[in-house]
Amino acid sequence: MMSDSQTVYPVLIGLMGSGKSSIGRRLAAHLGLPLVDLDAVIVEQAGCSIPDIFAGKGEEGFRDVETRVLAEVIGGAAVLATGGGIVMREQNREILKQHPPVIWLKATPEFLARRIDGDTNRPLITGGDTLNTLQGLARVRYPLYEACADFILPRGDMTKSEALAAIIEFLQTWQKR
Ligand code: S3P
Repeated sequence: MMSDSQTVYPVLIGLMGSGKSSIGRRLAAHLGLPLVDLDAVIVEQAGCSIPDIFAGKGEEGFRDVETRVLAEVIGGAAVLATGGGIVMREQNREILKQHPPVIWLKATPEFLARRIDGDTNRPLITGGDTLNTLQGLARVRYPLYEACADFILPRGDMTKSEALAAIIEFLQTWQKR
């Protein structure tokens, strides 16, 4: 656990499959904080799954809920793992920039496709060419993630333990600013 008084509440961003929840869980344990998974809060509040929300309200309807829940939970004493599309709305990007540090788990579409191909809980990739979809999302979203990030972690090049160590090192520097 970090020894300084605890005022750092990291926010994790990145494409689906980049490890926001799994690395977030380890980071939260290290910091002695809970992990808040934005998608899980959305599912809990809606009382149905993400694919059901997409089916019922469409992607824009899901984004409305996502923005509302983001504003509700951000800034709480927790590590926050967001959904991959969180950067799509300017309003969300503004919210993220007001709550540093934001950490981008940057991974290539090839790396991600191997991890999430066949996942039925992610409406944006079901039934299509996962790699092609991820390449399209990366083209649009990489610049947006970059614009919001205080730290960029090259996810594909390291194990989860190495990734965690790199984030912890960054947070120590961040705290001493
Ligand atoms: C989405 C990513 C998902 C979830 C929803 C939309 C996206 O979260 O919010 O399916 O637009 O990339 P994960 O990144 O946790 O898979």
